[in-house]
Amino acid sequence: MSAEIPDRDSAVALLESWVENDGLRKHMLAVEASCRHYARIHGEDEDLWGTAGLLHDLDWEKYPDEHPHRGLADLKDLGYPEAILQAIAAHAPERTGVEPDALFDRVLFACDELSGLVYACCLVRPNGIDDLKPKSVTKKLKDKSFAAGVNRDDVARGVGLLGIERSEHIQNVIDGMRNIADVLGVRAVDRP
Ligand SMILES: [Fe+2]
Ligand SMILES: [Fe+2]
Repeated sequence: MSAEIPDRDSAVALLESWVENDGLRKHMLAVEASCRHYARIHGEDEDLWGTAGLLHDLDWEKYPDEHPHRGLADLKDLGYPEAILQAIAAHAPERTGVEPDALFDRVLFACDELSGLVYACCLVRPNGIDDLKPKSVTKKLKDKSFAAGVNRDDVARGVGLLGIERSEHIQNVIDGMRNIADVLGVRAVDRP
């Protein structure tokens, strides 16, 4: 049997103990929500996939040069399941040498960069995520000056890893993030 997944409250407390930046916290929550949505689509373990999304950038703020190794060492000490460690290692293959092979790993990789772009799209729209469509996200994806920190090659690689249409992947990430729109502050009602 694989190790048990610590409950979400303790995972969130762990995140909050490592990460102070609100933007990074929201990014990790957005990736969690996207991974949870994918787990439901594939009939997989929502808590397993969601927890990897929630904790994948644990050490990014404190130890950017050692990311994700420091976070992984802590998660290992805390007894997080091997599948979570594997997926987190595989979200940064160029740093760890671990490639995203399993569906779980590929989903985390694919949701990571795209969720950042979707979030940025929400912020510049009067209605936020409420009426956001894949077409608008694709348009911003092609505009390289928009949310320039989002790595377009990684977005494309993620789509390729999932083997679905880009628009379907974008819709899935939007759907996942909609589930926590109030937490992310991306609904029309949250707009100033
Ligand atoms: Fe990362
Ligand atoms: Fe990330």
